[in-house]
Amino acid sequence: MNPYIVAIFVPLIASLILWKSNNGKKRGLPVDVGGEPGYAVRSYRSISLAESSWEGVSTLAELFEQACKRFTYKRSLGTRKLITREMEVSQSGRSFEKLQLGDYEWVSYGEAFKAVCSFSSGLVHLGHKKDERVAIFSDTRAEWFIALQGCFRQNITVVTIYASLGEEALCHSLNETEVSTVICGHKELKKLIDISGQLDNVKRIIYIDEEGVSSEVSLAKKNTSWTITSFVEVETMGREKPIDAYLPLSADVAVIMYTSGSTGLPKGVMMTHGNVLATASAVMTIVPSIGTNDIYMAYLPLAHILELAAENVMVAAGVAIGYGSPLTLTDTSNKIKKGTKGDASVLRPTVMAAVPAILDRVRDGVRKKVDAKGGLSKKLFDAAYGRRLSAINGSWFGAWGFEKVLWDFLIFRQVRAVLGGRVRFLLSGGAPLYGDTQRFINICLGAPVVQGYGLTETCAGGTFSDYDDTSVGRVGAPVPCSYVKLIDWPEGGYLVTDSPMPRGEIVIGGPNVTPGYFKNEEKTKEVYKVDEKGMRWFYTGDIGRFHPDGCLEIIDRKKDIVKLQHGEYVSLGKVEAALIVSPYVDNIMVHADPFHSFCVALVVAAQHASEEWASKQGISYSDFSDLCQKEETVKKVHESLFLVAKQARLDKFEIPAKIKLIPETWTPEAGLVTAALKLKREVIRKAYADDLAKLYA
Ligand SMILES: *[C@@H]1O[C@H](CO)[C@@H](O)[C@H](O)[C@H]1NC(C)=O
Ligand SMILES: *[C@@H]1O[C@H](CO)[C@@H](O)[C@H](O)[C@H]1NC(C)=O
Ligand SMILES: *[C@@H]1O[C@H](CO)[C@@H](O)[C@H](O)[C@H]1NC(C)=O
Ligand SMILES: *[C@@H]1O[C@H](CO)[C@@H](O)[C@H](O)[C@H]1NC(C)=O
Repeated sequence: MNPYIVAIFVPLIASLILWKSNNGKKRGLPVDVGGEPGYAVRSYRSISLAESSWEGVSTLAELFEQACKRFTYKRSLGTRKLITREMEVSQSGRSFEKLQLGDYEWVSYGEAFKAVCSFSSGLVHLGHKKDERVAIFSDTRAEWFIALQGCFRQNITVVTIYASLGEEALCHSLNETEVSTVICGHKELKKLIDISGQLDNVKRIIYIDEEGVSSEVSLAKKNTSWTITSFVEVETMGREKPIDAYLPLSADVAVIMYTSGSTGLPKGVMMTHGNVLATASAVMTIVPSIGTNDIYMAYLPLAHILELAAENVMVAAGVAIGYGSPLTLTDTSNKIKKGTKGDASVLRPTVMAAVPAILDRVRDGVRKKVDAKGGLSKKLFDAAYGRRLSAINGSWFGAWGFEKVLWDFLIFRQVRAVLGGRVRFLLSGGAPLYGDTQRFINICLGAPVVQGYGLTETCAGGTFSDYDDTSVGRVGAPVPCSYVKLIDWPEGGYLVTDSPMPRGEIVIGGPNVTPGYFKNEEKTKEVYKVDEKGMRWFYTGDIGRFHPDGCLEIIDRKKDIVKLQHGEYVSLGKVEAALIVSPYVDNIMVHADPFHSFCVALVVAAQHASEEWASKQGISYSDFSDLCQKEETVKKVHESLFLVAKQARLDKFEIPAKIKLIPETWTPEAGLVTAALKLKREVIRKAYADDLAKLYA
């Protein structure tokens, strides 16, 4: 046969077969469970819930040891060498740090295991007692993971703290858990010195050796009574005098994770080895053929369960883990010196995890570049994008075949190069991903983006979309370690008897459900329940619905529903998701209360779009903040909200009657959003109390 015909027909037939097998596939199946009545679904993959995929492994310490023995000579942890660090001063006079980083330097699994054993022994030599807790307070890096595993080998519980947590929250978490040893980087050491007077229990600091740490170390030696030791010193001590491991059991608490909640002080979620192992086992079954040829880009906070679980999965599969940071990820990242390479271009990962905010940024970056080029490039890009979109959207022609290869080669190759060009699997979690972004990344990367839904309280376990599911806006079917149940919430108007789909509050059960909050019995009892069969369930407060194929969609949040004066319910999250689509909106918080019949909104204006509009209108203004004050601007943005609200078919009472434009973006550093970029409503409400009052005046 003519080779050209083969080249066209083989992919065509293959895509036809794939398409057939994907359509109407059941991904989750109804299941009979105990506890409160509702509509429960399990993974189609397994009938009984997964606890451990590995024989003879019941803790994370055993999982790591087994992997190190299996993959002794394979690359395990990689770190980039610092070549230069410079300060650059921008036009506005602010200075920025710019880094030039070199190649990855690797340790093998065998070497990583030795480092872990040494650190573990060193910790004991330092005088750390078994029943005391260690806190790790640092950016994501190889030492973080080594310290974690080192603690596990002595059955020491690790307290994890978000690096971006505020002073009060930091104090609270260290106080509550009576941490005696803190492992930190130099930025974090500075924060600790500032609050040293309030930390009664801390006795030792182990600082990670990095450039610039010496000034903080001498300050700490002067101003505090702590014993200060470097990470390398601890390892050396342990190497010289090894100590036997004292391994934990599955039910022992591995980690107490403090997450920045949306309200008040953070709560510490206790996680057992068994909990994390259950999640890791479930994820293993979901990532297609993961193994020692894969490379994982590690840059999300390890203090977040998504990254912690992911890295343990990578270790179990013998994957090479290369460390980086969000600020050095790509060639154009903020901290990367112009003309030098970002982490992803050097590492060229095959597997990545991401939070929606980062993917949104990638999408906006690509869009901006394409728009700026204009002309033929833009036309070609749009044409290619349109073709791929309709291919994915139901017609099978070209979905996997020849045309895809062509477009990939012509157009999308350059986009893919931003992340190194080899990503074959992208995992998104932490918050719902916009359907648009998911499609965009799917098409441009040519790699599936799978979404997970889970919470710290369920050890990230919950649901996970299949890699061959090309639908958007859903979070997939339950993972093999969890049952997911919907229960009625009559006050909110969501019932499992609703048609066309059952709806209700999402409740998650299984071996991944954690024992509860540290020293907070009351709150634990409120949201965790054990049923008559002994299964633990966590009440998420999220509202979802199950599609006929067993996939979950998150549609609302219990807390964020407010009843207006006349009795209408406004779901803040739903309205915000609809309105943020406006090009003039960077972020938005809708506010409603029972004392008024209408709602209002704080809108973080999108600078680029607003300024472009203003210059077209010939509006003069001194700076962006001034532009946001102008009546015309407010009117324009408000009009755009009405427009998108109409498209989303919002009810009249759901559309903010008045808005206030905010010029400054809401960042985790400012404490206005969580690290996963969820709004901290209470904090924002307080910060803008005057503005809100004026909107109602
Ligand atoms: C591990 O430590 C915890 C807390 O100190 C303790 O309750 C548990 O019994 C220990 N596990 C083993 C196997 O000794
Ligand atoms: C931590 O404990 C110390 C001493 O007991 C106390 O002075 C400090 O206020 C506490 N801080 C917090 C945030 O609870
Ligand atoms: C360190 O101690 C000195 C003297 O006790 C004090 O003046 C200084 O402010 C302290 N510095 C910090 C960062 O706490
Ligand atoms: C994709 O399919 C959905 C439903 O089948 C439809 O509503 C949408 O308009 C389609 N989009 C494109 C770009 O074809």
